[in-house]
Amino acid sequence: MAACELLSSSSSQYSAMGKFRIQGSPVINLSEIVSSSSNVNNNIDDTTVNKQPPESPIQVTEEQKLVWLGAAKEAARLAGKEVRSAFYREKTVTMKSSPADLVTETDQNVEKMVFSFFRRKFPTHRFIGEETTAAGVPIELTDEPTWIIDPIDGTNNFVHSFPFVAVAIALSVNKEIEVAVTYNAILDVMYAAGRGMGAYRDGKRISVSGATDIKESLVVTTAKSLLTPTKMEDTFHNLRSLLERGRGIRNLGTAALNMCQIAEGAAEVYFEFGIHCWDMASGALIIREAGGVVLDTAGGPFNLMGRCMLAASSMDLAQTVASGLRHDHKKPDTVEPVYLRSTKD
Ligand code: IPD
Repeated sequence: MAACELLSSSSSQYSAMGKFRIQGSPVINLSEIVSSSSNVNNNIDDTTVNKQPPESPIQVTEEQKLVWLGAAKEAARLAGKEVRSAFYREKTVTMKSSPADLVTETDQNVEKMVFSFFRRKFPTHRFIGEETTAAGVPIELTDEPTWIIDPIDGTNNFVHSFPFVAVAIALSVNKEIEVAVTYNAILDVMYAAGRGMGAYRDGKRISVSGATDIKESLVVTTAKSLLTPTKMEDTFHNLRSLLERGRGIRNLGTAALNMCQIAEGAAEVYFEFGIHCWDMASGALIIREAGGVVLDTAGGPFNLMGRCMLAASSMDLAQTVASGLRHDHKKPDTVEPVYLRSTKD
């Protein structure tokens, strides 16, 4: 099957308004999530795999990538159906780290569903997921095929029924992202990429705008709420310097879909601090396959575990923005960095 055929979508419409309520106590059943979604390997001994990583990299063929991409799209559509059916209903919401960091039963159910889907298809594959991590499972990325999943990217949007909510799925092999999908489950738009195969929106090839000048650039970023006064000052500094030089600032409220705006040339710069590997994995590949540049916010090599990203339609633009940013350093997702090679390597 051609790569672009793996990208077509069916359409769907929803209209009712939803409500939500926030609960104080967590709704996560830790043991259930851990047992259903930890790095379970039905065929081989995981301990052995972890202690003795393969000496030579796992070979990845184009055929395998197409199979994985097809599976990722199927999983995203199944997940999207769940997300849409819950989107306008009353939601049970639980706070995580702050009143702006929320989780719903749908996030947790969709993550379990997606893990089970892949486990049935690929019993030896491993998993990293936002809600599994929130439930206490450590993030561990080995060379083995590992699905990195954000079941609902834009949980705040989901809670408010703001129609930018993504299912973000990426597969890492040898610590490289090989296939990725970001699916706007409400508007039914599928972004997809395979390493070395290009990036697509609903089956059509996409590419960055190529802009090199900040004066001609739209910037996409999240100005996080409820920060400490110092971090708030740094945020205002960053926004101000970009507003003074660029064409404007936008935010869709989901990191994964923000990144897709760079990939399809709708905006030129994206940066964010504090995001995690499941927010970044799919977008990083989609942007690079669309011809864009993905770095860390200081303009250095992109670390999937580094909790920040700067993406742009060109290297010149990325470096201009990096040099003007005040940085917000967060504890990385893992101690060992994971630097993704350029997709041209
Ligand atoms: C969040 C969204 C948001 C970004 C946050 C993420 P979640 O993901 O992507 O746009 O600013 O950093 O955590 O929690 O909705 O999956």
